[in-house]
Amino acid sequence: MRTALITGITGQDGSYLSEFLLDKGYDVHGIIRRSSVDFRERIAHLEGRPHFHLHYADMGDSMSLVKVVGMVRPDEIYNLAAQSHVQVSFDSPEYTANIDATGVLRILEAVRVCGLDQTCRIYQASTSELYGKVEEVPQSETTPFHPYSPYAVAKLYGFWIVKEYREAYGMYCCSGILFNHESERRGETFVTRKISLAAARIAQGMQDCLYLGNLSSMRDWGYAKDYVECMWLILQNDHPDDFVIATGVQHSVREFAYQAFSHAGIVLEFRGEGLDEQGVVKYIDPKLSAVNTKLSTGDVVIRVSPDFYRPTDVVNLWGDPSKAREQLGWNPTKTSFEQLVTIMVDSDMAKVAAEGAAMKVRTNLAEYLEKGIVK
Ligand code: NAP
Ligand code: GDD
Repeated sequence: MRTALITGITGQDGSYLSEFLLDKGYDVHGIIRRSSVDFRERIAHLEGRPHFHLHYADMGDSMSLVKVVGMVRPDEIYNLAAQSHVQVSFDSPEYTANIDATGVLRILEAVRVCGLDQTCRIYQASTSELYGKVEEVPQSETTPFHPYSPYAVAKLYGFWIVKEYREAYGMYCCSGILFNHESERRGETFVTRKISLAAARIAQGMQDCLYLGNLSSMRDWGYAKDYVECMWLILQNDHPDDFVIATGVQHSVREFAYQAFSHAGIVLEFRGEGLDEQGVVKYIDPKLSAVNTKLSTGDVVIRVSPDFYRPTDVVNLWGDPSKAREQLGWNPTKTSFEQLVTIMVDSDMAKVAAEGAAMKVRTNLAEYLEKGIVK
C-alpha cells in the first residue's frame, strides 16, 4: 500500500485529493492545526475511515513537520497548505511569506532530514498568480513570471526552491502551476463562491444585494475535483517536471455572475461602468417569482465596492494546458465552465434552502415558547 501525506488536508483541494487517493487504495495522512472550532467540515465524512489519519503540525513549525514526516515516512507528499487568499496577503504579508515561501523549504528539509530524499516524491501547489502582471497570453510553462501580490511573491520562492532541490539533490519534487479551480467546497470569500452563495440567497429572499470588486477581471476557472487528478499524475510521471494545470478557457467575473444568477432564475443586465456598474434584474423565472415575491425586475442586486479592489490586481489569467494534456494524458475540459457554475449554484441553492428551513423552525419555536404553546 502506498502512503501519502497531505498538508492543507482540510482545504478545498486537500479534501478532494484525500477522496481521490483513498479511492486509489492509498494510506492517507494529513496535517491539521489546532483550532478553537474542532469541526473540519470538508473532511468530516472521512474521519474515522480506515487508512485516513490526521496529525497535528503547522507549516510554521519545522519540528512538528520533521516529526510527522519521520513517523509517516510517505511515498508521496502533496504540499497544499498555504495562506491562500491573495487579498489577505496584503494584510498579512509576513505570515504569508512564512507559510507559503519558507513553509515549502521546511517540507523539503524535513524530507532530507528524515533520509527520504531519494524515495519520497513531492508535489508543490504552485499558482497562476506567478504570471501576475502577465507578459504573455495565454500563459504556459515558458511564460515569464511577474508576481503581483505578497502571496504571489511568496509562492514564487516556493516554485524556485522546489526546482533548486530537484537539481541540487536529485529529489523528485515538482510544481503544478494551477489556475483557479473552484467547487461547492470553495472558501466563501473567493469570488466564485461568494457569487454562487449570494445568487442562491438573493433568489430565496435572504439577501438583497451582492457587493463585488473588479467585475472585468478575467480568470481560467476549472473544477477542483478534476485538478486533484492532475496533481497525482504529476507524481506518477517518469521524471520530475513542472506543469500548467488549466482549462484553456477564460471568462470575466461579470460573466461568472451572469451565469450564476441565470441558473438561480434571475437574468441580469449590467449597467454603468467602474465603481458605478450595477447588476440589474431584467427577468425572473416564473417558478422563482412564485416563491420569492419580494424580488422585482429593475432591482439592483449587484453593486461595486472599492473595498474589494486590491492594491495591485491580476486581471488576465488564461492557461495553456497543452503540456499536461500531451505528457500526462490529462483532460483539461472534463467539466465545462457552465457545468462548474451549475454544480456550485445547485449546491448553494440546497444549502440556503436548508438554512432557511432551520431558521423557520427556530422562529416558530421562539414564537411557540413566547405564546406558551411549547414549554
Ligand atoms: P484552502 O481551501 O484555502 O486550504 C488551505 C489549507 O492550508 C487549509 O487546509 C489550511 O488549514 C491549510 N493551512 C493554512 N495555513 C497553514 C499552516 N500554517 N499550517 C498548516 N496548514 C495550514 O486552499 P485550496 O484552494 O485548497 O488551495 C490549496 C493550495 O493550492 C494552496 O497552497 C493554494 O495557494 C494553492 N492554489 C490554489 C488554487 C485555487 O484556485 N484553489 C490555485 C492555485 C494554487 P485550515 O483549514 O486550518 O485553515
Ligand atoms: N475575492 C474576491 N472578492 N475577488 C473579487 C471580488 C470579490 O468581491 N470582486 C472581484 N474580484 C476579483 C479579484 O480582484 C480577482 O481579480 C478575481 O476576482 C479572483 O479573485 P479570487 O476569487 O479571490 O481568486 P484569486 O485569483 O485572487 O486567487 C485564487 O486563485 C489563485 C490562482 O490564480 C486563490 O485560490 C489563490 O490561492 C490561487 O493561487
